[in-house]
Amino acid sequence: MPELDDARAEAIRRGVGSYDRHIFICTGPDCCTPEQGDAAWQQLKKSVAALNGSSERGRIYRTKVGCLRVCRDGPVAVVYPEGTWYAGLDAANLARVVDEDLRDGHPVADLIIGENRLPRA
Ligand code: FES
Repeated sequence: MPELDDARAEAIRRGVGSYDRHIFICTGPDCCTPEQGDAAWQQLKKSVAALNGSSERGRIYRTKVGCLRVCRDGPVAVVYPEGTWYAGLDAANLARVVDEDLRDGHPVADLIIGENRLPRA
């Protein structure tokens, strides 16, 4: 049996178990340049921190990833639990996703490239 106490403690410290929504954003290098990806990630971190301080929708978790396998028109992102996939997330478009979807709960139709709600466990 693996010893997982440290990981369990860190997961608790990170708030796992209390999140309502989770956004994964790809930072490239194939859907966008690493510079574009890093800029999007830095913007997302600040925006989500601000939302987590005031959102009535509850806490949001954000994760950067190396590839979501779309690999074009990035930065690409996916928001769960809705499973809303976005592309074209330059600074202005990412701000729309943060404000309209993460904050207000309204998917940004013109930026959606796919939808894949996952069944609840
Ligand atoms: S590199 Fe971003 S989706 Fe593949």
